[in-house]
Amino acid sequence: MPSPSPTESSQQKRVLSGLRPTGGVHVGHLVGALGNWVQIQEKFDCYFFIADWHALTTHYADTSQIQKHSLENLMDWLAAGLDPKRAVLFLQSRVPEHAELHLLLSQVTPLGWLERVPTYKEQRENIRDKDLGTYGFLGYPVLQAADILIYKADFVPVGEDQVAHVELTREICRRFNGFYGPIFPEPRPMLTSFPRLPGTDGRKMSKSYGNAIFLSDTEQEIRTKVSSMLTDPARARKSDPGNPDVCPLFSFHKIFSPPATVEMVNRECRRAGIGCVEDKKLMADSLVQALSPIRERRIEYEKNPKQVWDILEEGSKKASRIAQQTMEEVRDGMNLSRTFQSPVRAAKADQKPKKPAPAKKEKSTSD
Ligand code: TRP
Repeated sequence: MPSPSPTESSQQKRVLSGLRPTGGVHVGHLVGALGNWVQIQEKFDCYFFIADWHALTTHYADTSQIQKHSLENLMDWLAAGLDPKRAVLFLQSRVPEHAELHLLLSQVTPLGWLERVPTYKEQRENIRDKDLGTYGFLGYPVLQAADILIYKADFVPVGEDQVAHVELTREICRRFNGFYGPIFPEPRPMLTSFPRLPGTDGRKMSKSYGNAIFLSDTEQEIRTKVSSMLTDPARARKSDPGNPDVCPLFSFHKIFSPPATVEMVNRECRRAGIGCVEDKKLMADSLVQALSPIRERRIEYEKNPKQVWDILEEGSKKASRIAQQTMEEVRDGMNLSRTFQSPVRAAKADQKPKKPAPAKKEKSTSD
């Protein structure tokens, strides 16, 4: 799926994306999502939201932190440069139309499509401490499709791991339009140009792995985390030449350090001219420098959480207006309109039943 070309960027095209409030926002989110959102909010009609209902699909057993995380995530977003004047920033659960559309889309979504989603299979196998054998978890991508379609989004900025969900949204969109008329445009994924940032242990950065550097971390916390970072595992001694290409530290340098430092580290590491300890110190300096303005802004928001909540409230109202309009079209298309229909009109509709679109050819016969 090609990403949109620069000529497609216009105020008219709508962009939508979300993040789940399952914990703090970390540097991986900043590089992979937020940094990109901050740039595109200048060029597109942007909707960014906190997907608290999606957080429930895995965290349903303990909901005590969800509201706190939603508020804190918004603080991180604002501190990172998202601007409520340029983008609509909202909370999923404050726009209940997402749930209504989710229910309607779920009627036309074949089970087999959901069972084959790669993230579904992966997470069922890998997440052992939670029971994910729930209806809600299987339906995760249908809720995501509702999030996207309800705003008629043209583009969905996501990382690689979410592309399958956008593809599924397109399939649900086509099937829905086939039954009820052309209501939704087909959204396209918009891939970020940044590579995925590893965590301090070299695996994907994730709160649940305990390898994340958070936007809320203090300078001291950042330095401590960086000092314990994994480097090229084959470089046992300082006198051994290292390989920056496999070193998680170097991935950070490429993003956060000035070009001259990147060039120097790249050269000197390979000829054992610089050791990992010194290298970490340089990287920590760059990271602290990049994150400190964000942290300073965050501290201001922390002092005034009500103001942050109000931003979410305002944004949710704006989002609701669009969601409500779309739901009127959807209800009309499905003969669920809330306005009075005369029996004559209903009888006419009876005479020309809509032809259902065939479901996509199934590869397996089990569903
Ligand atoms: N599934 C996304 C994630 O885990 C979050 C999400 C929910 C989302 N709804 C969305 C992303 C709609 C893009 C569009 O990161």
